[in-house]
Amino acid sequence: MEVARTRDALRAAGHRWREAGEKIAFVPTMGNLHAGHLSLVTAAAAEAPRVVVSIFVNPLQFAPGEDFDTYPRTLDADLEALSGIGVDVVFAPAVAEMYPTGPDPATRVRMTGLSDILCGRSRPGHFDGVTTVVAKLFNIVQPDSAIFGEKDYQQLAIIRRMVADLCFPVTVIGHPTQREADGLAMSSRNQYLTADERLLAPELHRTLEAAAAAVSASPEAEIAGRIVAIQQAAMDNLARFGFEPEYVEIRDAGTLAVPGEESRQLVILAAGRLGAARLIDNLRVDLI
Ligand code: PAF
Repeated sequence: MEVARTRDALRAAGHRWREAGEKIAFVPTMGNLHAGHLSLVTAAAAEAPRVVVSIFVNPLQFAPGEDFDTYPRTLDADLEALSGIGVDVVFAPAVAEMYPTGPDPATRVRMTGLSDILCGRSRPGHFDGVTTVVAKLFNIVQPDSAIFGEKDYQQLAIIRRMVADLCFPVTVIGHPTQREADGLAMSSRNQYLTADERLLAPELHRTLEAAAAAVSASPEAEIAGRIVAIQQAAMDNLARFGFEPEYVEIRDAGTLAVPGEESRQLVILAAGRLGAARLIDNLRVDLI
């Protein structure tokens, strides 16, 4: 496994593979890898003979006052975790390598609509940072496919839309959320939880399960009318367990719009703070 620190080193490897007709699967990460990330790598290795993983804590997707400075950077442990599981190159650039014209680039990728709802409402500019860095990474890595976790459901929808809008020749693959035994979605930010908060954290997933059960149990004609009440009950439940809930929203799973009569595939998305950790999760509900 090679570690590339520069765009040129990464491109040289990509050039060799393309010359040999080998396809490239890409897993973008911010490091501090856990079993959820490693499952993305396993999916990538099943997708293509060459696998690139990037490790880059992207300053552009953190708002002032967010955890950019304290975000856990664990490169040595990450490289150890990635060795021997089918990764060809780890791309671990410095900030100046990714933003050669300075940390406030004039050219950015900004998506309207999808980037402004749900997490975009409480983290203005966050998804602009994500789309900008992912577009740059796609230009540098030039992968045939890229694997993203479904835990970041809105991010995945945004990346799919960006790829379609900007005609990137990349197949975007969503990978199921990996969970701890008690249901908590794996996330690097779980380590911000105290021991007591960690015991409460799975309530986020349980709340989504209860909301999903309430949607499924509703007669079809009544679902639209019950959505607000189900969302509110979920928010109240999170508050009861010590969360500061940000939102619980039932949306169309494809468009993330408020579901219409014709929506058969729904997703329930939630975000909330528990102590110092901002946690997100989601659950699909398919109406039969
Ligand atoms: O999901 C993440 O870890 C990041 O948002 C990503 C896609 C690596 C972009 O920095």
